Amino acid sequence: MFKFTTAGESHGPQLTIIVQGMPAGARLDRDAINRDLKRRQHGYGRGGRMKIESDEAEITAGVRGGETLGSPIAMTIRNRDFDNWRGAMDPWELDAEEAHKRRVHAPRPGHVDLPGGMKYDRRDLRDILERASARETASRVAAGAIAKELLRAFGIEIRSGVVSVGDGGDPEASPTFEDLGDVDDESPLRAVHKEHEPAMIAAVDRAREAGETLGGTIVIAARGVPVGLGSYVQWNEKLDGRIGQAILSIHAVKAVAIGDGVSASRKIGSEVHDAIYFDDERRYHRNTNRAGGLEGGVTNGQDVVVRAFMKPISTLRRGLPSVDTETREAHRSQWERSDVTAVPACGVVCEAMLAIVLAGAMREKFGGDSLGEMQRNYKAYVDELHRF
Ligand SMILES: Cc1cc2nc3c(=O)[nH]c(=O)nc-3n(C[C@H](O)[C@H](O)[C@H](O)COP(=O)(O)O)c2cc1C
Repeated sequence: MFKFTTAGESHGPQLTIIVQGMPAGARLDRDAINRDLKRRQHGYGRGGRMKIESDEAEITAGVRGGETLGSPIAMTIRNRDFDNWRGAMDPWELDAEEAHKRRVHAPRPGHVDLPGGMKYDRRDLRDILERASARETASRVAAGAIAKELLRAFGIEIRSGVVSVGDGGDPEASPTFEDLGDVDDESPLRAVHKEHEPAMIAAVDRAREAGETLGGTIVIAARGVPVGLGSYVQWNEKLDGRIGQAILSIHAVKAVAIGDGVSASRKIGSEVHDAIYFDDERRYHRNTNRAGGLEGGVTNGQDVVVRAFMKPISTLRRGLPSVDTETREAHRSQWERSDVTAVPACGVVCEAMLAIVLAGAMREKFGGDSLGEMQRNYKAYVDELHRF
């Protein structure tokens, strides 16, 4: 199986990531990892922190001369902002005045500040928000970049794009894989449909002016996924469920759809299910992909298509009604440097999580300690499929 664990506070010294389950003999590309980290930092509506930091992953274990060893891969990403936070976040010695100044005592609705403080019995709610912060998604992107390298060795590619931000764009738009390929990572919002971008930008501008925040919708797709990943035989082996869990675990993602999942609920069966055809050249095939490449929790060889819905960022500059946990008096929720929206970045995180789930499913099906062994198993399976 392909798995990863992360540690790190948002303003602590660094993020730490351990990836397990990469076979030996896979070539890694340092630039590809850092390119994805950079893509996560980009986007119109991001806060000031993205200007201070330029993330880079340093690999400290599991790789030799650019090739995986089959052992756990350890990575670190420095928090360059730590120098400004040492007094409040040093693991050993705090500056009492600085720590007091940075304390969080008016929890933000929509964040885990209050329930987290109650659960872990931490009165300074900074102890909660530091780990709950979406800074953690940088670790996911680094782990996801390694998963993407594994998938690439089997011709699997993942793309994403933003279809709506706030009331700009169309949350139900169904871009093709080619449309996602045309998304410009340098564009302000990584919009799939360029003509929608000005309305999305205007929505972000209005939100910023009003001290508000916005969410949006992202489409993520994987091409080249073989038939037969996942399983229908147990609830927790179903790949659609595993993808849903992975995407929903991303900060602020509140709903996930596979294929046309949301719009299908309003249609009749014959308008939803993808008819099956056979000819000698294309073998078994479909002319539509409303199922998003998954039937019964198993991939069917079509593109795996996922839609993620992100709620508005929970830190509002103008605050929200809340309570001061020190006095229990009414107090607007606290604000510190924050994004107005992070939908484009969330798309990069979604790619990483989809890559991690698919890499896990590939490892499960094709096993192998080395990439060569895994590829031989894959080839034997695919050759057999041609006889079906
Ligand atoms: C890439 C990314 C960046 C985010 N940036 C911020 C931010 O700057 N400020 C903030 O309050 N929330 C931010 N969020 C959202 C919060 O992390 C999220 O609202 C919080 O985790 C609570 O949502 P949950 O209940 O879905 O976990 C971001 C989320 C993502 C995916």
